[in-house]
Amino acid sequence: MKCAILTGGGDSPGMNAFIRAVVRTLLNTRPETSVWGVIDGWRGLAFNHYRRLGKRDVAGILTTGGTILGTLRFPELKEDPEVQRTVARNLHDEAFDYLFVCGGNGSLQAANVINQILRKEQWRTRILFAPGSIDNDVCNIYGTSIGFYSAIDKSLQMLEWIRDTASSHRRLYLIRSMGRDSAFLALFSGIAAGAEYVIRPNEQVDFEKLATIASQRDRDTRIIVSEAYPKSLEEIQAIFEEIFQRRGIQREVRTVDMSYFQRGGKAAVTDILRASWLGYRMAKDALSGADSGFYTAFYTGHIQPPLPLEVAADLSQTNHPDIPEEIINFALALR
Ligand code: F6P
Repeated sequence: MKCAILTGGGDSPGMNAFIRAVVRTLLNTRPETSVWGVIDGWRGLAFNHYRRLGKRDVAGILTTGGTILGTLRFPELKEDPEVQRTVARNLHDEAFDYLFVCGGNGSLQAANVINQILRKEQWRTRILFAPGSIDNDVCNIYGTSIGFYSAIDKSLQMLEWIRDTASSHRRLYLIRSMGRDSAFLALFSGIAAGAEYVIRPNEQVDFEKLATIASQRDRDTRIIVSEAYPKSLEEIQAIFEEIFQRRGIQREVRTVDMSYFQRGGKAAVTDILRASWLGYRMAKDALSGADSGFYTAFYTGHIQPPLPLEVAADLSQTNHPDIPEEIINFALALR
């Protein structure tokens, strides 16, 4: 059997644990399997850039952030049917039986399109997909994406550091969080850190009310702003400064962006274990001749049948479009 492993989209902590689990499970169970890493994600598939992976190549990477295989953004894949066909054709020509993918939303759409070409042409390669994204916006009704809890860990640490200064100086801090269109990372980070408020992407924000909350606090106030909320941190800062000035309240407002710091660094234990679990399950299924499919889990040991890729890729059915009401109530109740 010949297999390839690809990490796509943004890197997320836990991807290396996933790669390791796939390689080790395949080679420990069936040593004659040849396993190849695709260099730099989907672009690597379009240009046939691979490197052979043995058990030693994945030693010492369980906890590390980023991806040892690399991942470059490759917008041509979404836009150009010729590029999609090239990728499918390369998988076939290289005689890969399986392609293992760990990636986000864009990678899932790409995997689905390429799988359709492969099936239509009756080419052999099957695609097994696991969600890897700090945004937790890939089929989150069925499981949590790899990297989400790692990014919350980083955010929690940063939010605690910010609180020290905010508290010493009696400041209001506006803190930008990554998450693309989703508020999951911003909201869960805010809950974990006990922040005063999290602004969601499509929210109609009552700044007067938030200013009242801030002014009633003795010292620090931290408001997290989701990446997709359309106003910049500086625009929000100006709104608060105007309200405070009008009300005669002395309160400094500062801004800080957590973004890329949230995505880097060591993986959280939950992500290491879940990524390893999914890699193991997918490799086992490949060894039994499984069809293409989407694998996810809420926790290590959680088993649910893989979803067909075309079902998983229909995010209107498989993803919470917004944070569930009860989670918002939960966040508000703890404030
Ligand atoms: O999807 C992960 C993510 O970190 C998003 O939260 C963010 O919008 C995007 O990737 C940033 O991507 P890039 O690294 O290409 O700037």
